[in-house]
Amino acid sequence: MGNSSGKPVALVTGASSGIGETTVRRFAAGGYDIVALARRKDRLEQLARDLSGICRVEILAADVTAKDTPERAVAIASSVFGRLDCLVNNAGSGKWAPVDQTDDAMLDEVIDISLKAPFRFCREALRVMGPGSSIINVGSTFGLLGGLDGGAYCAVKAGLIGLTQTMAAQYGARGIRSNLVAPGVIRTEMTSGHWEFPSFQRINQEMTPCDRDGTTEDVAHTIFFLASKEGSYINGQTIALDGGWSTTKYLCHEALVCERKPA
Ligand SMILES: NC(=O)c1ccc[n+]([C@@H]2O[C@H](COP(=O)([O-])OP(=O)(O)OC[C@H]3O[C@@H](n4cnc5c(N)ncnc54)[C@H](OP(=O)(O)O)[C@@H]3O)[C@@H](O)[C@H]2O)c1
Repeated sequence: MGNSSGKPVALVTGASSGIGETTVRRFAAGGYDIVALARRKDRLEQLARDLSGICRVEILAADVTAKDTPERAVAIASSVFGRLDCLVNNAGSGKWAPVDQTDDAMLDEVIDISLKAPFRFCREALRVMGPGSSIINVGSTFGLLGGLDGGAYCAVKAGLIGLTQTMAAQYGARGIRSNLVAPGVIRTEMTSGHWEFPSFQRINQEMTPCDRDGTTEDVAHTIFFLASKEGSYINGQTIALDGGWSTTKYLCHEALVCERKPA
């Protein structure tokens, strides 16, 4: 069964705020119908209202860690729209702590939300996706590099890169591409409590060549490009969106000449 509107269809997890919400708006503007998923139903309903007249948005208020959620979400794409062209595995939580301070509850929570759930969504989506489809996982620069606060968060985001690369190999020949975006620090609800800390500002200002903060639009535009025909020879890649932070060992001039204070 094809989509009666003739539009391609994207399924976006974590669509109620931040990067996910902006991604839904970008895909809507780019001619897609959407399945939008998160726990906060009121936010999803508002998003659907905002986009009425632009595209069809089916919402699913559900927890990504519930075992039946991926199947339910993909079933909506199939039954309502008759197709699934793009899966964006974006839902995530910002819980992190050093390894020795990570208890089992935090470890399980982070793995469940940010690795097991994306894996299950991929598995479900691959059952219905056809040639020309793609999967985009939202990782992090903390999955590329170690860091002081890393712990479980770094481990799962690095794991997503492995998942992305192996799916690129396994399903590329079927015309289904897999890629990952690795944002640096982006201003969202997840990071809102951190901006007042000097170390956080240091990473984002003194140690980042691009002289502005990263935005949800930066990430959403790249996700959309990776899903598009223009990005259709990109497969198995990780694209960092961090203003050059992870690749340059950059320090601004003022930071280079300042003296280190004793701890
Ligand atoms: N912001 C950054 O600096 C940054 C940097 C690197 C990577 N990332 C990644 O970007 C992604 C989006 O984060 P964000 O910055 O946009 O944060 P955000 O605004 O807090 O959004 C997180 C989204 O995930 C959803 N979510 C969380 N747990 C969920 C669950 N168990 N089931 C269903 N949905 C769940 C939330 O919706 P509900 O609460 O309504 O369920 C929300 O829509 C995450 O994977 C994060 O790791 C962010």
